[in-house]
Amino acid sequence: MSKLSDQAFLLSDQYGDASNLDARIQLHRRFSTNKYGWTHWAFDQLTLPPVCRILDLGCGPADLWAENLDRIPAGWDITLTDFSSGMVAQARENLRDCGRPFAFGLVDAQSIPYDDASFDAVIANHMLYHVPDKVKALAEMRRALRPGGKLYASTVGETHTWELFETIARFDPEGQFQHEIPTYTLENGAAQLAPWFSAITLHRYEDDLEITDAEPLIAYVMSMGEAKSVFTDDRLAQLVAYVNEQIATHGAIRITKDTGMFEAIAPRAATEVAN
Ligand SMILES: C[S@@+](CC[C@H](N)C(=O)[O-])C[C@H]1O[C@@H](n2cnc3c(N)ncnc32)[C@H](O)[C@@H]1O
Repeated sequence: MSKLSDQAFLLSDQYGDASNLDARIQLHRRFSTNKYGWTHWAFDQLTLPPVCRILDLGCGPADLWAENLDRIPAGWDITLTDFSSGMVAQARENLRDCGRPFAFGLVDAQSIPYDDASFDAVIANHMLYHVPDKVKALAEMRRALRPGGKLYASTVGETHTWELFETIARFDPEGQFQHEIPTYTLENGAAQLAPWFSAITLHRYEDDLEITDAEPLIAYVMSMGEAKSVFTDDRLAQLVAYVNEQIATHGAIRITKDTGMFEAIAPRAATEVAN
Protein backbone atom coordinates (compact mmCIF):
# COMPACT_ATOMS: atom_id res chain seq x y z
CA MET A 1 0.00 0.00 0.00
CA SER A 2 1.19 3.52 -0.75
CA LYS A 3 2.55 5.30 2.31
CA LEU A 4 0.28 8.23 1.36
CA SER A 5 -2.82 6.33 2.45
CA ASP A 6 -1.28 3.79 4.84
CA GLN A 7 -3.26 4.81 7.90
CA ALA A 8 -1.11 2.84 10.39
CA PHE A 9 2.06 4.49 9.02
CA LEU A 10 0.41 7.92 8.98
CA LEU A 11 -0.74 7.54 12.59
CA SER A 12 2.48 6.16 14.03
CA ASP A 13 5.19 7.81 11.90
CA GLN A 14 3.99 10.65 9.74
CA TYR A 15 1.31 12.38 11.84
CA GLY A 16 1.93 11.05 15.36
CA ASP A 17 2.66 14.69 16.11
CA ALA A 18 2.87 17.88 14.03
CA SER A 19 6.67 17.94 13.50
CA ASN A 20 6.77 16.42 9.99
CA LEU A 21 3.93 18.58 8.71
CA ASP A 22 5.54 21.65 10.32
CA ALA A 23 8.83 21.01 8.49
CA ARG A 24 6.97 21.08 5.18
CA ILE A 25 4.90 24.13 6.12
CA GLN A 26 8.09 26.03 7.08
CA LEU A 27 9.53 25.47 3.58
CA HIS A 28 6.32 26.71 1.97
CA ARG A 29 6.19 29.75 4.28
CA ARG A 30 9.76 30.85 3.53
CA PHE A 31 10.05 30.15 -0.19
CA SER A 32 6.59 30.37 -1.75
CA THR A 33 6.49 32.97 -4.51
CA ASN A 34 2.91 33.90 -3.61
CA LYS A 35 3.34 35.83 -0.37
CA TYR A 36 -0.40 36.03 0.38
CA GLY A 37 -0.18 32.57 1.94
CA TRP A 38 -2.24 29.41 1.54
CA THR A 39 -4.00 29.58 4.93
CA HIS A 40 -5.25 33.14 4.31
CA TRP A 41 -6.35 32.22 0.82
CA ALA A 42 -8.05 29.01 1.99
CA PHE A 43 -9.94 30.99 4.63
CA ASP A 44 -11.05 33.49 1.93
CA GLN A 45 -12.76 30.61 0.11
CA LEU A 46 -15.14 29.94 3.04
CA THR A 47 -18.22 31.84 1.90
CA LEU A 48 -20.45 30.99 4.84
CA PRO A 49 -23.15 32.82 6.81
CA PRO A 50 -22.24 34.68 10.03
CA VAL A 51 -23.89 31.97 12.13
CA CYS A 52 -23.07 28.39 11.16
CA ARG A 53 -21.64 25.05 12.33
CA ILE A 54 -18.35 23.94 10.73
CA LEU A 55 -16.60 20.57 10.91
CA ASP A 56 -12.88 20.48 10.05
CA LEU A 57 -11.70 16.91 9.26
CA GLY A 58 -7.97 16.16 9.42
CA CYS A 59 -7.41 19.61 10.97
CA GLY A 60 -3.71 18.96 11.76
CA PRO A 61 -2.28 21.65 14.06
CA ALA A 62 -5.19 23.98 13.20
CA ASP A 63 -3.14 26.54 11.21
CA LEU A 64 -6.22 27.48 9.16
CA TRP A 65 -7.87 28.80 12.32
CA ALA A 66 -4.85 29.98 14.32
CA GLU A 67 -3.71 32.16 11.42
CA ASN A 68 -7.12 33.67 10.72
CA LEU A 69 -8.32 34.18 14.30
CA ASP A 70 -9.19 37.85 13.84
CA ARG A 71 -11.30 37.02 10.79
CA ILE A 72 -13.52 34.28 12.24
CA PRO A 73 -17.10 35.51 12.75
CA ALA A 74 -18.25 35.22 16.38
CA GLY A 75 -21.23 33.09 15.27
CA TRP A 76 -19.15 30.29 13.74
CA ASP A 77 -19.34 27.15 15.87
CA ILE A 78 -16.20 25.20 14.84
CA THR A 79 -15.37 21.57 15.58
CA LEU A 80 -11.75 20.60 14.87
CA THR A 81 -11.03 16.91 14.36
CA ASP A 82 -8.22 14.64 13.27
CA PHE A 83 -7.64 10.88 13.47
CA SER A 84 -4.27 11.50 15.17
CA SER A 85 -4.51 12.27 18.87
CA GLY A 86 -1.12 14.05 18.59
CA MET A 87 -2.58 16.42 15.99
CA VAL A 88 -5.70 17.09 18.05
CA ALA A 89 -3.47 17.84 21.08
CA GLN A 90 -1.38 20.26 18.98
CA ALA A 91 -4.50 21.94 17.57
CA ARG A 92 -5.83 22.37 21.12
CA GLU A 93 -2.48 23.78 22.28
CA ASN A 94 -2.22 26.21 19.35
CA LEU A 95 -5.69 27.61 20.10
CA ARG A 96 -5.51 27.41 23.90
CA ASP A 97 -5.24 31.13 24.62
CA CYS A 98 -7.02 32.38 21.56
CA GLY A 99 -10.01 33.78 23.42
CA ARG A 100 -12.77 32.00 21.54
CA PRO A 101 -14.25 28.52 21.93
CA PHE A 102 -13.48 25.61 19.61
CA ALA A 103 -14.68 22.01 20.03
CA PHE A 104 -12.23 19.17 19.40
CA GLY A 105 -12.64 15.50 18.51
CA LEU A 106 -10.70 12.40 17.55
CA VAL A 107 -12.38 11.47 14.28
CA ASP A 108 -11.61 9.21 11.33
CA ALA A 109 -13.16 10.82 8.26
CA GLN A 110 -14.40 7.39 7.18
CA SER A 111 -16.66 7.14 10.22
CA ILE A 112 -17.87 10.54 11.43
CA PRO A 113 -19.46 10.35 14.89
CA TYR A 114 -21.88 13.25 14.45
CA ASP A 115 -25.59 13.32 13.61
CA ASP A 116 -26.96 13.52 10.10
CA ALA A 117 -27.28 17.06 8.73
CA SER A 118 -25.57 18.57 11.77
CA PHE A 119 -23.10 20.89 9.99
CA ASP A 120 -23.40 23.79 7.52
CA ALA A 121 -19.86 23.23 6.22
CA VAL A 122 -17.29 20.44 6.19
CA ILE A 123 -13.62 21.23 5.56
CA ALA A 124 -11.18 18.59 4.34
CA ASN A 125 -8.00 20.60 3.84
CA HIS A 126 -5.24 18.55 2.19
CA MET A 127 -6.40 15.34 3.79
CA LEU A 128 -8.60 13.31 1.42
CA TYR A 129 -5.57 11.88 -0.42
CA HIS A 130 -4.61 10.15 2.83
CA VAL A 131 -7.97 8.39 3.23
CA PRO A 132 -8.04 4.80 1.90
CA ASP A 133 -11.84 4.58 1.49
CA LYS A 134 -12.72 7.91 -0.05
CA VAL A 135 -16.19 6.73 -1.07
CA LYS A 136 -16.99 6.03 2.58
CA ALA A 137 -15.49 9.36 3.70
CA LEU A 138 -17.40 11.35 1.06
CA ALA A 139 -20.65 9.58 1.96
CA GLU A 140 -20.00 10.44 5.60
CA MET A 141 -19.24 14.08 4.77
CA ARG A 142 -22.48 14.39 2.84
CA ARG A 143 -24.43 12.70 5.65
CA ALA A 144 -23.00 15.10 8.25
CA LEU A 145 -23.86 18.15 6.10
CA ARG A 146 -27.31 19.65 6.05
CA PRO A 147 -28.87 19.73 2.56
CA GLY A 148 -27.40 22.80 0.89
CA GLY A 149 -24.37 22.71 3.20
CA LYS A 150 -20.90 23.21 1.74
CA LEU A 151 -17.87 20.96 1.39
CA TYR A 152 -14.43 22.55 1.04
CA ALA A 153 -11.91 19.87 0.05
CA SER A 154 -8.46 21.09 -0.99
CA THR A 155 -5.73 19.06 -2.63
CA VAL A 156 -2.77 19.17 -5.01
CA GLY A 157 -2.36 18.66 -8.74
CA GLU A 158 -0.42 15.87 -10.43
CA THR A 159 2.67 18.02 -11.02
CA HIS A 160 2.82 19.42 -7.48
CA THR A 161 6.46 19.48 -6.21
CA TRP A 162 7.66 17.01 -8.88
CA GLU A 163 11.06 18.75 -9.19
CA LEU A 164 11.69 18.20 -5.50
CA PHE A 165 11.47 14.44 -5.99
CA GLU A 166 13.49 14.71 -9.20
CA THR A 167 16.27 16.54 -7.31
CA ILE A 168 16.44 13.81 -4.67
CA ALA A 169 16.18 11.06 -7.29
CA ARG A 170 19.17 12.54 -9.18
CA PHE A 171 21.18 12.33 -5.97
CA ASP A 172 19.86 8.89 -5.05
CA PRO A 173 18.78 7.14 -8.29
CA GLU A 174 18.22 3.76 -6.61
CA GLY A 175 16.28 5.29 -3.72
CA GLN A 176 12.65 5.36 -2.70
CA PHE A 177 12.02 9.03 -3.50
CA GLN A 178 9.85 8.90 -6.54
CA HIS A 179 7.17 11.43 -7.35
CA GLU A 180 3.90 9.74 -6.43
CA ILE A 181 0.63 11.12 -7.75
CA PRO A 182 -1.94 11.13 -4.93
CA THR A 183 -5.29 9.40 -5.39
CA TYR A 184 -7.32 12.60 -4.93
CA THR A 185 -6.03 15.42 -7.10
CA LEU A 186 -7.09 18.67 -8.75
CA GLU A 187 -7.40 16.66 -11.96
CA ASN A 188 -9.65 13.83 -10.69
CA GLY A 189 -11.25 15.39 -7.60
CA ALA A 190 -14.42 16.68 -9.29
CA ALA A 191 -15.19 13.21 -10.66
CA GLN A 192 -14.77 11.71 -7.18
CA LEU A 193 -17.02 14.32 -5.58
CA ALA A 194 -19.69 14.19 -8.30
CA PRO A 195 -21.62 11.12 -7.01
CA TRP A 196 -22.12 12.86 -3.65
CA PHE A 197 -22.15 16.61 -4.23
CA SER A 198 -23.50 19.15 -6.69
CA ALA A 199 -22.29 22.54 -7.97
CA ILE A 200 -18.63 21.48 -7.79
CA THR A 201 -16.22 24.38 -8.36
CA LEU A 202 -12.42 24.31 -8.30
CA HIS A 203 -10.58 27.38 -7.00
CA ARG A 204 -6.87 27.33 -7.84
CA TYR A 205 -4.10 28.96 -5.82
CA GLU A 206 -1.22 30.26 -7.95
CA ASP A 207 2.14 29.58 -6.36
CA ASP A 208 5.61 28.04 -6.74
CA LEU A 209 8.73 27.55 -4.62
CA GLU A 210 12.10 29.22 -5.16
CA ILE A 211 14.38 27.68 -2.58
CA THR A 212 17.67 29.40 -1.75
CA ASP A 213 18.60 27.61 1.47
CA ALA A 214 19.42 23.90 1.70
CA GLU A 215 18.53 23.37 5.35
CA PRO A 216 14.71 23.74 5.18
CA LEU A 217 14.62 21.69 1.96
CA ILE A 218 16.53 18.90 3.69
CA ALA A 219 14.13 19.15 6.65
CA TYR A 220 11.24 18.79 4.19
CA VAL A 221 12.80 15.68 2.63
CA MET A 222 13.49 14.20 6.06
CA SER A 223 9.82 14.70 6.99
CA MET A 224 8.66 12.25 4.33
CA GLY A 225 8.35 8.49 4.20
CA GLU A 226 11.33 6.71 5.69
CA ALA A 227 13.92 9.38 4.82
CA LYS A 228 15.17 9.56 8.41
CA SER A 229 16.39 5.98 8.22
CA VAL A 230 17.72 6.28 4.63
CA PHE A 231 19.70 9.51 4.88
CA THR A 232 21.87 9.14 7.97
CA ASP A 233 25.41 10.30 8.82
CA ASP A 234 27.64 10.45 5.70
CA ARG A 235 24.74 10.00 3.29
CA LEU A 236 22.89 12.92 4.85
CA ALA A 237 26.03 15.09 4.69
CA GLN A 238 26.38 14.21 0.99
CA LEU A 239 22.75 15.11 0.36
CA VAL A 240 23.24 18.50 2.07
CA ALA A 241 26.37 19.12 -0.06
CA TYR A 242 24.46 18.14 -3.22
CA VAL A 243 21.56 20.49 -2.48
CA ASN A 244 23.96 23.34 -1.64
CA GLU A 245 25.79 22.76 -4.93
CA GLN A 246 22.47 22.84 -6.87
CA ILE A 247 21.53 26.15 -5.23
CA ALA A 248 24.99 27.63 -5.88
CA THR A 249 24.89 26.56 -9.55
CA HIS A 250 21.32 27.63 -10.37
CA GLY A 251 20.77 30.46 -7.87
CA ALA A 252 17.73 28.60 -6.48
CA ILE A 253 15.91 25.30 -6.73
CA ARG A 254 12.61 26.05 -8.47
CA ILE A 255 9.70 23.79 -7.68
CA THR A 256 6.23 23.76 -9.21
CA LYS A 257 3.30 24.01 -6.87
CA ASP A 258 -0.25 23.20 -7.91
CA THR A 259 -2.84 23.51 -5.18
CA GLY A 260 -6.49 24.34 -4.99
CA MET A 261 -9.78 23.92 -3.23
CA PHE A 262 -12.92 22.18 -4.42
CA GLU A 263 -16.13 23.77 -3.20
CA ALA A 264 -19.27 21.65 -3.50
CA ILE A 265 -22.81 21.55 -2.16
CA ALA A 266 -24.61 18.74 -0.38
CA PRO A 267 -27.67 18.15 -2.56
CA ARG A 268 -31.10 19.26 -1.38
CA ALA A 269 -32.78 16.52 -3.40
CA ALA A 270 -31.59 13.08 -4.53
CA THR A 271 -32.06 14.15 -8.15
CA GLU A 272 -29.29 16.77 -7.84
CA VAL A 273 -26.58 14.11 -8.10
CA ALA A 274 -26.28 10.68 -9.64
CA ASN A 275 -26.11 8.86 -6.28
C1 LIG B 1 -1.44 17.16 5.21
S1 LIG B 1 -2.12 17.15 6.81
C2 LIG B 1 -3.23 18.55 6.69
C3 LIG B 1 -3.56 19.15 8.03
C4 LIG B 1 -4.46 20.41 7.97
N1 LIG B 1 -5.75 20.14 7.39
C5 LIG B 1 -3.76 21.49 7.20
O1 LIG B 1 -4.16 21.77 6.06
O2 LIG B 1 -2.79 22.05 7.74
C6 LIG B 1 -3.25 15.79 6.75
C7 LIG B 1 -4.00 15.54 8.06
O3 LIG B 1 -5.00 14.53 7.83
C8 LIG B 1 -5.04 13.67 8.95
N2 LIG B 1 -5.65 12.41 8.51
C9 LIG B 1 -5.12 11.45 7.70
N3 LIG B 1 -6.00 10.45 7.52
C10 LIG B 1 -7.14 10.79 8.21
C11 LIG B 1 -8.41 10.18 8.41
N4 LIG B 1 -8.71 8.99 7.86
N5 LIG B 1 -9.33 10.82 9.15
C12 LIG B 1 -9.04 12.02 9.73
N6 LIG B 1 -7.84 12.63 9.60
C13 LIG B 1 -6.90 12.03 8.85
C14 LIG B 1 -3.60 13.58 9.41
O4 LIG B 1 -3.47 13.16 10.74
C15 LIG B 1 -3.12 15.02 9.19
O5 LIG B 1 -3.30 15.82 10.33
